[in-house]
Amino acid sequence: MDIRWMSESGIVDVFLLLGPMPQNVFNQYAQLTGTQILPPLFSLGYHQCRWNYEDEADVEAVDSGFDEHNIPYDVIWLDIEHTDGKRYFTWDPEKFPDPVKVQEKLREKRRKLVVISDPHIKVDPNYTLYAEAKEKGYFVKDREIQNFEGTCWPGLSSYIDFTNPAAREWYLSQFSLEKYKNSTDILFVWNDMNEPSVFNAPEMTMPKDAVHHLGWEHRDLHNLYGFYQQMSTSEGLIQRSGGKERPFVLTRSFFAGSQRYGAVWTGDNKAEWEYLKISVPMLLSLSVTGIAFCGADVGGFVGDPDPELLVRWYQAASFQPFFRGHAMQDTKRREPWLFWRRKYSPNQESDTGTICPPSILVPVVL
Ligand SMILES: *[C@@H]1O[C@H](CO)[C@@H](O)[C@H](O)[C@H]1NC(C)=O
Ligand SMILES: *[C@@H]1O[C@H](CO)[C@@H](O)[C@H](O)[C@H]1NC(C)=O
Repeated sequence: MDIRWMSESGIVDVFLLLGPMPQNVFNQYAQLTGTQILPPLFSLGYHQCRWNYEDEADVEAVDSGFDEHNIPYDVIWLDIEHTDGKRYFTWDPEKFPDPVKVQEKLREKRRKLVVISDPHIKVDPNYTLYAEAKEKGYFVKDREIQNFEGTCWPGLSSYIDFTNPAAREWYLSQFSLEKYKNSTDILFVWNDMNEPSVFNAPEMTMPKDAVHHLGWEHRDLHNLYGFYQQMSTSEGLIQRSGGKERPFVLTRSFFAGSQRYGAVWTGDNKAEWEYLKISVPMLLSLSVTGIAFCGADVGGFVGDPDPELLVRWYQAASFQPFFRGHAMQDTKRREPWLFWRRKYSPNQESDTGTICPPSILVPVVL
């Protein structure tokens, strides 16, 4: 067999795992890269996410919807719109005027909140996080060794250089209950857009000649960027609890060893049967690479699933380790009970899908 190796920057690290059996290879690979961090128990349950649950009233309505319809769920998620102008670690003062109350209500039901924290930081001298990172020199630089600026959700943004250990230390400290205003210990974290996404750059990611800590070019460590963000976030949550509690951090970008820091999902999929089908080999492939705590967006992120696709997706995903319903901003609402009405009036002409009994929606019992 001929194998041709190509490398962006000339450096190739090769590890030969001698086996001889596949089981030995997995064992050796786990020794090399680490094993899956034990997830907190709640995170094995069902997660309900959407871009976006709009405000406090929306969160409360969705939360009580699960109770009214007797559907178990453990975690509700907030996407980028919960922040004040996509400034992570903040809250939109109109939509989320009292985030602590939201979290305390969830706590009463032993539920958790996950919020998003992305690596791009809005260029805004009045935003403390930006001002501090700039002053400390924690942003990735461009080839002129100025702070790299590109566009992402907040508009013009700079990107924290997670390959710098000091930047990671600083970032992880932002998750402390003192620093992260109006967060509580039932709040956990989701790192998205950490390939990193740069909307106005070639291939929608960071240019290869951007410069990181110790002068390394982005081309040398592109695939490690997200790994280091999740590492830092995960250690931030451990530190927040004084080392007592397991962290939960979901990441979109990952590398060999990311299993040591949390969960991975397969990114933006579509509400189509082909995407349900491919989620199975994708997750099995991730699992054999040691990333066991993985999942795909239930129902498909882009587009509107018909009732049968949604039901079948829930059925399949209830056997997958990370189990989260998620949907894009412009999709129809799809909290599971919105489809139940049709079960009880099966002769309605609009009813084309196979409707499941509620019991099929019951996920892993904890
Ligand atoms: C935190 O929440 C309180 C209400 O509980 C609100 O008055 C305050 O402005 C919030 N602070 C921040 C920084 O979001
Ligand atoms: C920063 O805050 C000051 C004082 O509130 C304000 O005048 C200025 O316009 C703000 N700058 C930006 C970039 O928002």
